[in-house]
Amino acid sequence: MKAPRELKVKPIRNGTVIDHITANKALNVLKILGLPSKEAAVTIAMNVKSSEMGTKDIVKVEGRELESREVDKIALIAPKATINIVREYEIIEKGKVTLLNHVNGILICPNPNCITNTNEPVKSKFNIIDTGPLMLRCYYCERIMNNQDIEEQFK
Ligand code: CTP
Ligand code: ZN
Repeated sequence: MKAPRELKVKPIRNGTVIDHITANKALNVLKILGLPSKEAAVTIAMNVKSSEMGTKDIVKVEGRELESREVDKIALIAPKATINIVREYEIIEKGKVTLLNHVNGILICPNPNCITNTNEPVKSKFNIIDTGPLMLRCYYCERIMNNQDIEEQFK
């Protein structure tokens, strides 16, 4: 019997392709981007084969280029993600997400008594203490956040 012809995921015309997302994290990436929404055309591929990663997820969003704040959040759940900006079918920019030493103003400290959770005007701030798997420590109260705690905030 002849093997069926391999179907490729359709290219997009204008927008952003987030590739090399950690397998099974595409839905967290959508959450970060505030998707699905009524209008945006989105393509999702989960658990597809990748030579570098074994398996990976891909998210394609038509007609949208990401804000740096969104890219910083994606780095927390998909540290190997690549961001491809597409215009008229061509990739005009290819970038990688990056984890900085500090994660500022993105996550909420899980400690209810932390100064960042009171009415003081203090934004959350975490130091990275491990990257594989990701582990953060609150700069103010030293509460540790593990990978799972981080993901919880993007569900
Ligand atoms: N892509 C797309 N629409 C386009 C162009 C590219 O959806 N008009 C997607 C491709 O399907 C792929 C990603 O954007 O998932 C990156 O494309 P490309 O750089 O051509 O692929 P690779 O060389 O495999 O990427 P990398 O070097 O990042 O592994
Ligand atoms: Zn804290």
